[in-house]
Amino acid sequence: MTGTVAVPPLLSEAGSADPYAVYRVLRAEDPVHHDPSTKSHLITRHADVLAGYRNKAFTSKNYEWQLEPVFGRSLLQLEGREHARKRALVSPNFRGHGLDSWTPVIRRNVTRILDGGIARTVEGLLEPLAPGDEVDLLEVFAHKLPVSVITAMLELPTEDEEMFLGWYNRMIAFLANLAQDPEVHASGIAARAELWEYLTPIVQERRRHPGSDLISTLATAEIEGESLSDEEVATHTTQLLNAGSETTDKTFGSVFRHLLRDRELFEQVRDDRSLVLPAISETLRVTPPSQMNARVLSQDVEVAGVELPEGSLVHLVMASANRDERRFSDSETFDLHRKDFNHEKAFSGSGEHFAFGFGIHACVGAMLAKNELEIGVNALLDRFPDMDLAPGFDPVEVGVKFRAPVELKVVL
Ligand code: HEM
Repeated sequence: MTGTVAVPPLLSEAGSADPYAVYRVLRAEDPVHHDPSTKSHLITRHADVLAGYRNKAFTSKNYEWQLEPVFGRSLLQLEGREHARKRALVSPNFRGHGLDSWTPVIRRNVTRILDGGIARTVEGLLEPLAPGDEVDLLEVFAHKLPVSVITAMLELPTEDEEMFLGWYNRMIAFLANLAQDPEVHASGIAARAELWEYLTPIVQERRRHPGSDLISTLATAEIEGESLSDEEVATHTTQLLNAGSETTDKTFGSVFRHLLRDRELFEQVRDDRSLVLPAISETLRVTPPSQMNARVLSQDVEVAGVELPEGSLVHLVMASANRDERRFSDSETFDLHRKDFNHEKAFSGSGEHFAFGFGIHACVGAMLAKNELEIGVNALLDRFPDMDLAPGFDPVEVGVKFRAPVELKVVL
């Protein structure tokens, strides 16, 4: 059955212009479809994606080539006891009291960004963003907040945030390089070398004089009597810097894309802030920033009647599963009031939807992302209650592995 339906290859112009249209056909007619452009099988229904995340034969070995060259051997590649122990080093910072302690940092950074958001004078002096300004909301806000928060958690210099942004953009492009573009590949590798040259002396210094930041936690941790090498600390730091910035950044853009394209929706959320959380979680369901997770099969597996041999590369397509009409009513509609979905649970790896993955590798930082998004969206609505899209501007989503608007011109 696989390969029999007429859909454009995912990486073709038509496929990447509207992958949701491709997934709609696949869910109905070919739920385990071989896509020639990514040389992988696309698993597109909610129940099959969930079963994939639960099945140990779906390994994350793909990250050996997809991520290790730029991150080193990160949590995403580890398994069993080693994974659990290393994940436990950082996870207390992302839940409960550990997480709450970062709320003032998020608020402080939101204010700092909004107050110093724009170079209005010829001297380039920074002035607050003001109602009526025409700006790219991504450039002035979304690209800045998540990186500033994770930079504070790692206690890295605020003035280097632009540099981190440059490095993580190149690394994420490497990870998203499904078309295997050699320039993107080389640029990602070079970014890692630059970042690690920057980080290594900092790691060494934190071993000698540890503080309460995340790099110090990693640098001084002992697991069964052994500490992490400089390289391992750099790996986990690189992962946090990337994972902590990129996806939250993209989600800000997508939330405002949904709200600003429908004035009524924007006004509803602006005037009833209990709708901010549903707006964020519905954005993550309908348009998740990370649209698919790859896996490599460690044995033959049957999915929806299709035999997949050991060694197959598959994609668990969260962007499709999250719109599965078998799981959600009116599944492709952005609906702040849907009854078939618990918005609070969406951030706890419960499998309601898969924007944060599921199972042992489910996102560590989901609750931090929730806090950043709630605080950031509320602050923007408070300061700019009449925000609108710039005249004539229609924000388009771009990307297949990661997907979000790349520009969001608004009048504040
Ligand atoms: C809206 C924002 C975010 C989204 C949509 C997101 C999405 C994801 C997804 C889908 C995975 C699973 C990947 C897989 O199974 O292959 C993941 C893992 C991960 N995320 Fe996030 N993420 C977000 C924010 C964050 C933040 C803020 C942090 C930390 C500061 C973070 C840290 C991580 C880490 C460390 C992992 C690996 C966990 C493991 O392998 O055990 N993420 N994320």
